[in-house]
Amino acid sequence: MVNKIKQICCIGAGYVGGPTMAVIADKCPHINVFVVDKNKDKISQWNNEDTSRLPVYEPGLEKIIKKCRNKNLTFSTEIETCVSTSDMVFISVNTPTKKRGFGAGKASDLKWVEACARQVAQYSKGHTIVVEKSTLPVRTAEVIKNILDIDGKDSKIKNTCTFNVLSNPEFLSEGNAINDLENPDRVLIGGEDKDAIDSLHEIYRNWVSEEKILHTNIWSSELAKLTANAFLAQRISSINSISAICETTGADIREVSRAIGSDSRIGSKFLDAGPGFGGSCFKKDILNLVYLCEFFGLNEVANFWEGVVTLNNWHQSRISELIVKKLYGTLSEKKIIILGFSFKANTNDTRESAAIQICKDLIEEGAQLIIHDPKVEREQIALDLGLEEKKENNAYSDNYDNLGNWTFSNNLETIFNGAHAAVILTEWNEYSFIDWEKESLNMNSPAWVFDSRSLLAPEKLEDSGLNFWRVGDGSEKK
Ligand code: NAD
Ligand code: UDX
Repeated sequence: MVNKIKQICCIGAGYVGGPTMAVIADKCPHINVFVVDKNKDKISQWNNEDTSRLPVYEPGLEKIIKKCRNKNLTFSTEIETCVSTSDMVFISVNTPTKKRGFGAGKASDLKWVEACARQVAQYSKGHTIVVEKSTLPVRTAEVIKNILDIDGKDSKIKNTCTFNVLSNPEFLSEGNAINDLENPDRVLIGGEDKDAIDSLHEIYRNWVSEEKILHTNIWSSELAKLTANAFLAQRISSINSISAICETTGADIREVSRAIGSDSRIGSKFLDAGPGFGGSCFKKDILNLVYLCEFFGLNEVANFWEGVVTLNNWHQSRISELIVKKLYGTLSEKKIIILGFSFKANTNDTRESAAIQICKDLIEEGAQLIIHDPKVEREQIALDLGLEEKKENNAYSDNYDNLGNWTFSNNLETIFNGAHAAVILTEWNEYSFIDWEKESLNMNSPAWVFDSRSLLAPEKLEDSGLNFWRVGDGSEKK
């Protein structure tokens, strides 16, 4: 019999758990939604009166939080209470790449998922449907099921507890999460138990049309998520690889993208050359796929997918190198403006952002970076670069080691004064309005603008006297 779900608990109030549950609460006013996290600070940020200070920045999220919070959407650290009173528990915790031990550098670290499964086994009452929302290696559902069955039975009062496990991977992309959640291309539900599948299906039916809700077996669902990310990342590495050929042959990557994207078999989306893909998912999920392939002895398949990550790393260092080369082979004592630090526009997330490696490379070469980003905070940049922000402005004194440094600025009006170069790394809309003719008067001469996102029309810089480099633009060769 289909269980009518009255209460949901989501473990993990991060970039996926927060927005996903906010949309479920908004679309299903008859369901009580609890989002729990062990991180007290994060939960208090979700409960912040000032909704402009939520821990996740996503266009449209603030409005939903204002509407649903403390009505049918609650953020809490009370994991035990929320799990024990819920009919359905989503696991939406982090699954980063393992740092040590077997599979280090490739396999997913499942310690957070395992901890969740144990919490659910310990606290739940009656029948609970457990939904994998985290991206997981194929056959993780089996592990979760084992833990639930064994730990669930361990406790004396638990012998009446039963569980179903479903896979329901999330395909949202950051910066567009609310739109992706409200209008998904598809919702994927993998599982064995028809009633459990129908219960989750019923929730999505509140706003997603029937034909977009796909049912598969649980292993296909887990693998489809890894595959989707691998295919998407592969497109970015493919187009970035061609951008390098464009620059050496006189071709233009925008023209090549348009030409190949008009083939309906290829399609026009996800063909923008950039500084290399970032984000918390692509690299980790491909490496996880590579690990699975190696584990099953499919070494050629593993090598094929690993190439996508190798190309991405190469492409990022290619950009750093060409900046150094264009600035006469040395960045020592040169002031370089970094425009954008998040891994893409419209998010405050910096995980695996290409900006991290590129900034590290430039600092290593002695540059004095001034980093701007409309949403990323300076504390996050310090963590990502593993380097404290330079405090006082005595950049040129006694720097015998030729060490570079960085400072943060949120003032686009004055940032360009005395700069030798500006590098666009994130496609924030506001950067397309910079008046380069005006700024060229404030910059050093000669100065460079490097546009890794094709954000600027070359005509806009024509009269500025600035040197201009654009990703995949081979016009110098024409
Ligand atoms: P995140 O790091 O933003 O959030 C995870 C949260 O889980 C953290 O706040 C952490 O404190 C909490 N947590 C971990 N273990 C816990 C426990 N035992 N009890 C309570 N809370 C716990 O991660 P995210 O970006 O939201 O990603 C979550 C999962 O979704 C990952 O598997 C990821 O691969 C997948 N995913 C992410 C995206 C994305 O765009 N970020 C998209 C699709 C899928
Ligand atoms: C990705 C998947 O798109 C999403 O389905 C999955 O659920 C999570 O991983 P996300 O990482 O949030 O989403 O962003 P995405 O838009 O995919 O961009 C990833 C990276 O690729 C970014 O650094 C972005 O700038 C880059 N990118 C994307 C390009 O360089 N060119 C493009 O054409 C598209």
